[in-house]
Formats: sequence, structure tokens, C-alpha cells
Amino acid sequence: MATGSRRHRHDTARLKHDAAQSTLAPTVSSQPRPAMSSHLLSVDSLSRDDVDHLMRVSALMEPIAQRRKVTRVLEGAVLGNLFFEASTRTRVSFHAAFSRLGGSVCDTTGFTFSSMAKGESLYDTSRVMSGYCDAIVLRHPEQGAVAEFARATKVPVINGGDGPGEHPSQALLDLYTIDKEFTRLGKSLAGAHILLTGDLKYGRTVHSLIKLLSLYEPMRITLVAPPGLEMPRHLIDLVSNRGHWVETRESLACDFSDLDVVYTTRIQKERFTAEMSESFGGLSRDFTVDRAFMDRYCGPDTIVMHPLPRDSRPEANDLDVDLNGDPRLAIFRQTDNGIPVRMAIFATLLKVDHLIERDLRDVPWFVPDTIGVDDLRD
Ligand code: NCD
Repeated sequence: MATGSRRHRHDTARLKHDAAQSTLAPTVSSQPRPAMSSHLLSVDSLSRDDVDHLMRVSALMEPIAQRRKVTRVLEGAVLGNLFFEASTRTRVSFHAAFSRLGGSVCDTTGFTFSSMAKGESLYDTSRVMSGYCDAIVLRHPEQGAVAEFARATKVPVINGGDGPGEHPSQALLDLYTIDKEFTRLGKSLAGAHILLTGDLKYGRTVHSLIKLLSLYEPMRITLVAPPGLEMPRHLIDLVSNRGHWVETRESLACDFSDLDVVYTTRIQKERFTAEMSESFGGLSRDFTVDRAFMDRYCGPDTIVMHPLPRDSRPEANDLDVDLNGDPRLAIFRQTDNGIPVRMAIFATLLKVDHLIERDLRDVPWFVPDTIGVDDLRD
């Protein structure tokens, strides 16, 4: 059952965030801003200023994402949404985000129904798609394939995940979620303790996230991965060299204290070599985030995140469903944040970010108070 004070706290937090009061988000200029890189391929291309700007624009998009306002700043623009790997939320949220800016979307899913099945190169596909679309999102199973595709076009290309490489839009929405949750909880990113756990070797979301976090004030990052699935050394070195305190633990059956964020990921079995698949006996419960772990090591103000999908097969031992309904479980607030953040990415790359505020109109259709079950209230 919801408590009045919890409801009040949540509403206040939402209002605060709408008014861009968070630590990362002051105001957005009404003048065009010098563009960041024309593509979003890796977090490497983002400066701290670029990220702060994207967080501010994301906060501006909240009334649209929450279906209180509409805008048509991308009216007439067409997005090519090309997914050559499985996806639900990334594909649909990029589609919804572009549509909510007034643009329309063409998409293709899987190799079977694209000309790549006939041997077409990334170069040719890129040249062809750029003739049809004003922006392109590409997900591809090979690391580096999205960058190769982007080299053949001047149309903005967004990396929707390239094999075990990167997933920059996910990291941006993860950072936005952390900031929004911290604003609600009265916490700050500086000095925060963040646990990243699960498949840190092949999980592209954590590769992008750790780089993004490293742009901020020093924090404490604890890494926990099963043997053979550890975070790549060069990423640990990068964040350590930027002044963060990085610590590695063998399993979740250790003593943890002061955790602010528990970010867990799915084992990416589809990326295992044949040899690894044979030797991997399944994920032990020692790597599962569940209610017992949260109650033992975390207080009421620790949030649990996961890029999703969580593998619900019992032997997967992924993030446990026994946390469903627990207000600390931020995973569905996290997925909701995919819309404003992806809208901000499009608006910034297509240079209409400065037009948003003056283009807002009220939504004319019926919108329920909350879209789904609200874990902070119900
Ligand atoms: C992730 C991905 O595809 O990298 N999902 C997502 O985009 N939200 C994580 C995963 O597949 O485990």
C-alpha cells in the first residue's frame, strides 16, 4: 500500500526533476548549441559538457515522455531503425522517441529480411539507407560494425549495440536514471558507491556505463563477475586513471556496505565461444541479486538497476523476481527513462534541441495518472 509521505516524496521528486533541479541538469539555451560529434557511436566521443547537455534536454522531454505535452520538431524527418540482433526495448523506445518528436520511422529486423542476407556490405547498406533516412539507429552483432557503417554516411548514426562493444544510449539512460533516483533520495553522484555485477566481459551496457561514470566526480565502483566474465582490464585502468576507486570482489557472497546502486546484468551466452559454452556450468546463486542480498547489505535508499531483459529461466539465476514491487527496484523506471533520453539524443544530433520548449502543446487524448504499476506508490 502507498503511504501518503511516499507519494508526496515521489511527486516532489518528479516536479523537481521536471524543473531540472538535479545535480546534472540546470538549463537549456534557446540558441543552437555547437554540435557534439555528428554520430553517437561510443561514449568516447562525449565530453562531460555533452553529457550534461543531453541530461538537461532529457529532463525537458519528460512532459512529452509522460504524455502531458506533444511536439512536432521532427515533423517530416524519417528514422531508419535497423536491428540485426534481438531487441525489444531499445528498438521500440528509439521508434517511440522519434515518433514522439513528430518524425516517422522505417525499420528492419534481423538479417533474414534485409539485403545483408544477400551479401550486401555495411558500406552499401549505409549509402542506400542514408538516401532514405535523416537518422539511423543500428544494432549489429559485430563489435565495430556500427562505426564502419557510419563511415559511409553523413546522416547521424546511433550505435544501438555493437556485439560486446558499446551501447551508449543505454549508458545515457542509466546515468539519467541514477541522477533522477538520487535527486529523489537526496543523494549526489560524487562519492557514490556503485556495484556492477554479472557478465562484465560481454555486457556492452556496463562498458559504456563505466566510461560515462568516469567523466564525473570520483566515486567508488565495485566489480563482481563470474570467473572469465570480468570487466576488460583497459576499462578498469581508464576509470582508475580518472581518479575513481575501483575494487574487484569474487562474488556477491562477500560483505558489502554503503551501496548506492546495484547494477546487475544478464549472462550474454549468445556471445560465448563454443569452448566457453561447454565449460560454463551456469551462473551460481552467489552472483544473484535478490531480496536477501538487498536486505542484508543495502538500506532503503539503494537502487537496483538492470538494462533488461532479465533471463527468467530459473537456471539463469539473473536478477530475482522476489524484488518485484520493492521500491528499490528501479528497472521499470529505468526503461521508462529510455524515452526522454533517446528523444534528447535525436533532438541534439538533429539540432532541434533548442526548439523544444517553444514547440510544446497540451496532449489532447486521455492519459491515465500512471502508465503502469508504480513501484514507489503501490
Ligand atoms: C542489453 C543489450 O542488448 O545490450 N539490453 C538492452 O539493450 N537494454 C542487455 C542484454 O541484452 O542483456
